[in-house]
Amino acid sequence: MNGRTTPATALAAYRRRRRQLMRMAGEDAILILPAAPERVRSRDTYYPYRQDSDVLYLSGFEEPEAVLVLVPGRSHGESLLFCRERDPEREAWDGPRAGPEGAPDALGVDDAYAIDDIDEILPGLLEGRSRVYYHFGRDTDFDLKLIGWLNRVRAQVRHGAQPPHEFLELGHLLDEMRLIKSADELKLMRRAAKISVQAHEALMRAARPGMREYELQAELERVFRASGAEPAYGSIVGAGANACVLHYRANDAVARRGDLVLVDAGAEYRGYAADITRTFPVGGRFSREQRALHDLVGAAHAAALAQARPGVPWEAGHKAAVDVLAEGMLSLGLLKGRLEKVVADGTYRRFYPHKTGHWIGLDVHDVGDYRIDGESRLLEPGMVYTIEPGIYIPPGDTSVAAKWRGIGIRTEDDVAITRDGHEVLTAGLARSADEIEAFMAA
Ligand code: GLY
Ligand code: MN
Ligand code: MN
Repeated sequence: MNGRTTPATALAAYRRRRRQLMRMAGEDAILILPAAPERVRSRDTYYPYRQDSDVLYLSGFEEPEAVLVLVPGRSHGESLLFCRERDPEREAWDGPRAGPEGAPDALGVDDAYAIDDIDEILPGLLEGRSRVYYHFGRDTDFDLKLIGWLNRVRAQVRHGAQPPHEFLELGHLLDEMRLIKSADELKLMRRAAKISVQAHEALMRAARPGMREYELQAELERVFRASGAEPAYGSIVGAGANACVLHYRANDAVARRGDLVLVDAGAEYRGYAADITRTFPVGGRFSREQRALHDLVGAAHAAALAQARPGVPWEAGHKAAVDVLAEGMLSLGLLKGRLEKVVADGTYRRFYPHKTGHWIGLDVHDVGDYRIDGESRLLEPGMVYTIEPGIYIPPGDTSVAAKWRGIGIRTEDDVAITRDGHEVLTAGLARSADEIEAFMAA
């Protein structure tokens, strides 16, 4: 919405997803999905609004103060939306609203009601349904509202009302659907990836010694906005030892000649995230030590990517990356001991403290279980995840030779599993030390 009309193909996709979800939930269920709440940033000023990913996935509706309710098998309509009423005065300030009259056509839902009437209507929808699917504990204010509506039905038991008696985690059904991306979703993810690749290229091209990290960030985010996208998460631009701070946020230091700059940034396009990391020398040439560590991370990256195909356990990529990194840490003299021990007891975590990736989609750290019955789940076509090995030598670590200290490197790509292997959505962006030097020299 928000002035954009949703194409018919997208409406059909939302309808299909709602139907599939309702089929899985069963005829005696009701599913309740509130819009994301608005959040105050400062006094009467709000953070840019971002709709809840589940609501986006099932409706594309981008307005706040809304609730999507799915009632499988209900004869007067299964997909219901509660939303804000039209209000010319408010709309003059905040922009257009669909309103309950416009929502069915605009969104393909069966019926829509004013959000102000939800207290009157929702108890009646709960009545007679035995199971409620909902994300308990995500939004405490809404949890309390739901309990209030349930209590309204419970109060009518003497008059024959049948309140729901099973409460189930909505994510159990929905997260599994969202984990497998459709062709339409992959198209949007390719677009998010492409914008992100162009943004990283713009940043790398603009980088000069003496620039502030935020100046580099500006080059990158200019490309996001100019492409109708925005950052999927806070862009990380860390020069020198700042690259060792995994969630570095300040982005205000000077990038000096000889520094590596670690850039972890991705665009969100129509709700879908990309997540890319590159580490490059601000002067265009890697030092010997920087290159040695960058090559090592590159080898780990390749090892993880070699595990990206259907039927392989999700954790195999991480294990492969850890083996390569740990072996490299030993051969470069960063660690001492036997490889098996360094891997088994986790000593390698001193320089590689995180995992090699995560699902990505509508959320940058997307939904979906990583393990099933205690076992790593197997990769399937349509799953999309990041591969992001790294190595971080803290500047004050006197256990290693001084030449290594303060070097932080990570490379990150987004990978879709296909029927016979994988597709690197973020391919085309220089990644190896050679590719980066060639790109920066061009
Ligand atoms: N940018 C967050 C991550 O790489 O997981
Ligand atoms: Mn990531
Ligand atoms: Mn990242």
